[in-house]
Amino acid sequence: MTPAVHLEEVVKQFGDFTAVDHITLDVAQGEIFGFLGPNGAGKSTTIRMLCGLLRPTSGRGFVNGLDMTTQAERIKASLGYMSQRFSLYDDLRVEENMQLFGGIYGLGSVYLRKRIEEILELISLKERRDSITRELPTGLKQRLALGCALLHRPPMVFLDEPTSGVDPATRRAFWDLIYSLADEGVTIFVTTHYMEEAEYCNRIGLIDKGRLIALGSPGELKDKHLSGTVYEVRVSDVLAGVETLKGTKGVLDAAIFGRSLHVRLNKEEAAKQFLEPVFVSAGIEMRELRAVEPTLEDVFVALVGKKHE
Ligand SMILES: Nc1ncnc2c1ncn2[C@@H]1O[C@H](COP(=O)(O)OP(=O)(O)O)[C@@H](O)[C@H]1O
Ligand SMILES: [Mg+2]
Repeated sequence: MTPAVHLEEVVKQFGDFTAVDHITLDVAQGEIFGFLGPNGAGKSTTIRMLCGLLRPTSGRGFVNGLDMTTQAERIKASLGYMSQRFSLYDDLRVEENMQLFGGIYGLGSVYLRKRIEEILELISLKERRDSITRELPTGLKQRLALGCALLHRPPMVFLDEPTSGVDPATRRAFWDLIYSLADEGVTIFVTTHYMEEAEYCNRIGLIDKGRLIALGSPGELKDKHLSGTVYEVRVSDVLAGVETLKGTKGVLDAAIFGRSLHVRLNKEEAAKQFLEPVFVSAGIEMRELRAVEPTLEDVFVALVGKKHE
């Protein structure tokens, strides 16, 4: 089957600056693929190339078999794209935004009327169809932006940080929506900087400074890049704690996670006996220590040497 996305050594330069640096990548039909990385990593630039909005400087790319450089117009017409700043019209009503987008996609009025009802149902916005878009809370605007990107039944949607700036419950509700699309066979290419969201994807690519630094399922990435055991450690001073650990031989990685530290040690190390003297000699009190399930943030730390925010 033709892959949904096929990129070969794709580069995007803005002047001397390389925003996307030789990315090679395949996404299969029906996958939920996540692009994960810090701000400025090159996520949006990659998506904009994939959507036919930006030409690559070099390399080759295909979306559903269409060539990114020569068939950009066809790509644009066949995809759903939810941009990082949703391109909704704030002073229009919910339904009017949908009519406008439907018109841009060239949908006939009878079809569009029916499709708008389906989408309003899908995104649970029936009650708010007459609301002025500006007055919607961010979480509902996000759903409307997704709804608008789905009007023409695209086989694939690109969602650029669709859930930024909303609370975890709203994010989870949005992911329920993503899963129901995936159930219908829609391929999803989503960017995020929320680690827990990356765990919801079938496969993810970790991107940093324009380069793809890891690719695989969340489980594969952890198996491949996280040897040893990850511990959560509560100490009297996290900043001093992390600095101390970074200079300590035998510590594979150390980073601040909320009010604790994550420390990765070789499996053989007896963690308590190993860490306690290290902290004591630095004047830091170790209050609690437990082995934890590693997260993708731990993978990022292992690959880049620091947390990604
Ligand atoms: N049109 C542009 N001109 C110059 N630099 C750009 C342009 N678009 C993006 N960049 C730069 O490219 C890098 C990657 O940006 P972007 O793809 O938006 O990152 P992300 O979406 O991962 O936060 C950033 O350093 C950004 O400032
Ligand atoms: Mg971006």
